[in-house]
Amino acid sequence: MDTKKRPCSSLSISLLLFFLLSSLSIQHCAATDNISSGQSLSGNQTIASKEGNFELGFFTPGNSRNYYVGIWYKKIPVQTVIWVANRATPISNTSSAEFKISEDGNLVLLNGSKIPVWSSNSIPSTSDSTVAVLHDTGNLVIRDGSNTTIWQSFDHPTDIVMPEGWIGFNKLTGECQSATAWETPENPAPGPFTLSLSPDRSKQYVLLWNNYEIYWRSGVWNGQYFPALPATNENTPFNLTFIDNEQRMYGTYTILYSSFITHTMIGSTGLLTQRYWLDSTQEWQSISSQPVPQCDVHSLCRTFGICDQKSSDNICKCTPGFEPASMKEWELNVWSSGCVRKTSLRCSKKSSDGGEGDGFLGMTNMRLPANPQNLTVGSAENCEQACLNDCSCNAYAYVSGCSIWTADLWNLVQLYDDDSGAGTLYLRLAASDFPGSGSSHKLVIDLTLGVIGGILGILCVLVGLFWAFQRSKRIRMAKQVEGSLILFPYGDLQRATKNFSEMLGSGGFGSVFRGTLVDSTDVAVKKLDGLRQGEKQFRTEVSTLAAIQHVNLVRLRGFCSEGCKRLLVYEFMSGGSLDYHLFRNNSAVLCWKMRYQIILGIARGLAYLHEKCRECIIHCDIKPDNILLDRDFCAKVADFGMAKLVGRDFSRVLTTMRGTVGYLAPEWISGLPITSKVDVYSFGMMLFELVSGKRNTTHSVDGSNIFYPSWAARKIIEGDIFSLLDHRLNGADDTEELTSVCRVACWCIQDSEGHRPTMGQLVRILEGVLEVSMPPLPRALQLLTEDQSQIRYHLSSTEYEDALDQSLNFYQ
Ligand SMILES: *[C@@H]1O[C@H](CO)[C@@H](O)[C@H](O)[C@H]1NC(C)=O
Ligand SMILES: *[C@@H]1O[C@H](CO)[C@@H](O)[C@H](O)[C@H]1NC(C)=O
Ligand SMILES: *[C@@H]1O[C@H](CO)[C@@H](O)[C@H](O)[C@H]1NC(C)=O
Ligand SMILES: *[C@@H]1O[C@H](CO)[C@@H](O)[C@H](O)[C@H]1NC(C)=O
Ligand SMILES: *[C@@H]1O[C@H](CO)[C@@H](O)[C@H](O)[C@H]1NC(C)=O
Ligand SMILES: *[C@@H]1O[C@H](CO)[C@@H](O)[C@H](O)[C@H]1NC(C)=O
Ligand SMILES: *[C@@H]1O[C@H](CO)[C@@H](O)[C@H](O)[C@H]1NC(C)=O
Repeated sequence: MDTKKRPCSSLSISLLLFFLLSSLSIQHCAATDNISSGQSLSGNQTIASKEGNFELGFFTPGNSRNYYVGIWYKKIPVQTVIWVANRATPISNTSSAEFKISEDGNLVLLNGSKIPVWSSNSIPSTSDSTVAVLHDTGNLVIRDGSNTTIWQSFDHPTDIVMPEGWIGFNKLTGECQSATAWETPENPAPGPFTLSLSPDRSKQYVLLWNNYEIYWRSGVWNGQYFPALPATNENTPFNLTFIDNEQRMYGTYTILYSSFITHTMIGSTGLLTQRYWLDSTQEWQSISSQPVPQCDVHSLCRTFGICDQKSSDNICKCTPGFEPASMKEWELNVWSSGCVRKTSLRCSKKSSDGGEGDGFLGMTNMRLPANPQNLTVGSAENCEQACLNDCSCNAYAYVSGCSIWTADLWNLVQLYDDDSGAGTLYLRLAASDFPGSGSSHKLVIDLTLGVIGGILGILCVLVGLFWAFQRSKRIRMAKQVEGSLILFPYGDLQRATKNFSEMLGSGGFGSVFRGTLVDSTDVAVKKLDGLRQGEKQFRTEVSTLAAIQHVNLVRLRGFCSEGCKRLLVYEFMSGGSLDYHLFRNNSAVLCWKMRYQIILGIARGLAYLHEKCRECIIHCDIKPDNILLDRDFCAKVADFGMAKLVGRDFSRVLTTMRGTVGYLAPEWISGLPITSKVDVYSFGMMLFELVSGKRNTTHSVDGSNIFYPSWAARKIIEGDIFSLLDHRLNGADDTEELTSVCRVACWCIQDSEGHRPTMGQLVRILEGVLEVSMPPLPRALQLLTEDQSQIRYHLSSTEYEDALDQSLNFYQ
């Protein structure tokens, strides 16, 4: 007890010794969630929220020597600070500092000399009962004696927007809530990148550089999501809302699984990411990251840095003649210090000591920096001379006229042939900084460069020829080694996809891009994120997938495995995915005949996976998003084998990808080992969607939301199948087909897997070979109330992971 009391009593310098002393030691040594007037935190004292989700106290980021007051996740082993009080005014000694409620009701941080270095600047209140409470959402709230909130940390976010937090604008006070990135991962001071509402007050978010330059827009809120944010479409684990009333305009989100730990963060490299905590790897993973491409982040590489999206190792480099201001930071991919000249400019053309003056290095295909000074000079030579005559001029360009830049150069981006807006920037360098040349006369350089260029050109052609020869040899060899699969070099896929510029979709494992191979066949390239599997195992798994070929399965054409990069190359399906055709308002309605053919195709593909392959393959993720259509609307099942390929991380799909939850069989949810009958269950759920043309979760009857399958099962048993049919179809032309699909759907979602038919049986039923009898009502559905949220709340992401672990062990 004695040792416990000591740190607490040392800070009580108050006169009301006894009373305070005893209350303090209880308040601070026992876990508490609040700081009330007269109490303070110092040293290693903290408060924790009621359920222990968050903790508040002093911390130092990384290897920094500075101390800050912040809030962090208490249950996560990796220090993750979600809010910082004194982000720009660190203190050096916590034992003499105090974080407390001041006499005027403000939350303040006093340094060793009792000087306030940070204050909440809230409305003054003199009440003794003012108290700051740390909530389990991560919000620190100050309430006055009448229990009115007078300040809260969610109104002043740092770089993270928590679920239930907000970013917006208070129309009455004019106060804005925006999130500003840390300067570096070890320095919480405000950096140049900010997430806020659009300055024109439209309902969209923007990313800003230095609070004025917009480098990304979310698109205007359409009532359900922001067009440019893929993770906020329907059926994500997030419930995003945007509120615009008389007082405030803001966006906020909640999460649908209580144990799913996630937040939105604007990182110190200007990227907006949605991160979530993955227990199995003990790491933060990102679900989506904006902007794409990363070089769209304004001035990502800071002064005199060049952003090169296609660079294979480092996206940022210094312009020639410059070097990182802090090599140590650059090695950690922290570019905030920018680049500095190796040799300062001489300024005059010919210096007095007879040495050579400055020259210009032409950098082709550059995106020219903004805000030049435009000069009215007649020629490129005059433009160069004008720059040379101005000691502060760093570069010039002569495109439609003469532009010079007299300040530091920002936002330089290397462009490529197919980009528009490229120009040649002439960078002024000291003579000694010209690459690869002791001599520095511009003419000489130009000549040398010309000659070198010529030689290089010839060499390139030769090397290119040799390389092409080698590559074709390699592909041929790869073909032999990997069976029917092509092993692609990463560079080829980069070229084929125009540097991954056309995204077809994205999910938990990564994103899919459209590409065109050299032989002009179209492909879909799937870039797998964060796969922890070794190269050998990856190749083994991929080659087993290659052996699986069926007209109703999307064919794997090849893969790439270089360093930590793992990519899969599939045939391209020009018809897009089934969910698009079923659920998007702007697509043509699929007629019943087509739907039936699609159903039959999927069933055949799955039957092949389950029964005909050498090893039984359970798909594990059957849903309309994973059914692709070719040009003739023939259905092909995509993404099979992912569970094996991805192993443990497969659970990420289920915890983060939209829509998956509603397709999961009950035995899976309860953690039992799974069999191929889980696919049958998901298939059944999908049949309801094919019949109704709507997602199962978006139906309502008499204005209240229903979980469609449970309602539909009852209708089927009552024999009222036509009420189930997509009203856009004006009745099915084949009642028999509709009846059998509806009955089949109901059989597929039976609770006991023994009652569900096999895929082979389903194919025969759909082909009309087998009869299907009237199904019983699935019991689990009966028990479920009409709201799908109930299913969601029964599950936590850990439960998914446990269930998956068991099931994967079972069939691997
Ligand atoms: C502050 O914390 C103490 C100890 O946990 C608790 O008894 C008290 O009710 C809390 N006060 C408020 C206003 O939450
Ligand atoms: C807090 O600091 C005191 C002395 O500075 C030390 O004795 C105590 O162990 C520390 N407590 C924790 C939990 O680190
Ligand atoms: C911090 O302040 C305390 C109390 O004023 C003092 O004893 C201690 O030496 C200081 N620590 C450092 C590292 O300056
Ligand atoms: C406290 O802050 C003031 C003002 O910034 C500064 O002059 C003083 O040195 C600081 N004291 C300590 C102990 O850091
Ligand atoms: C203070 O208000 C909050 C919400 O406004 C409420 O949850 C809490 O119970 C109130 N506390 C007291 C002591 O009235
Ligand atoms: C999402 O949030 C809105 C507003 O807070 C609420 O009305 C709606 O029921 C929520 N949806 C779900 C699925 O929780
Ligand atoms: C300078 O010229 C560029 C391109 O020619 C133009 O976009 C820019 O507006 C001009 N700037 C000024 C200040 O006139």
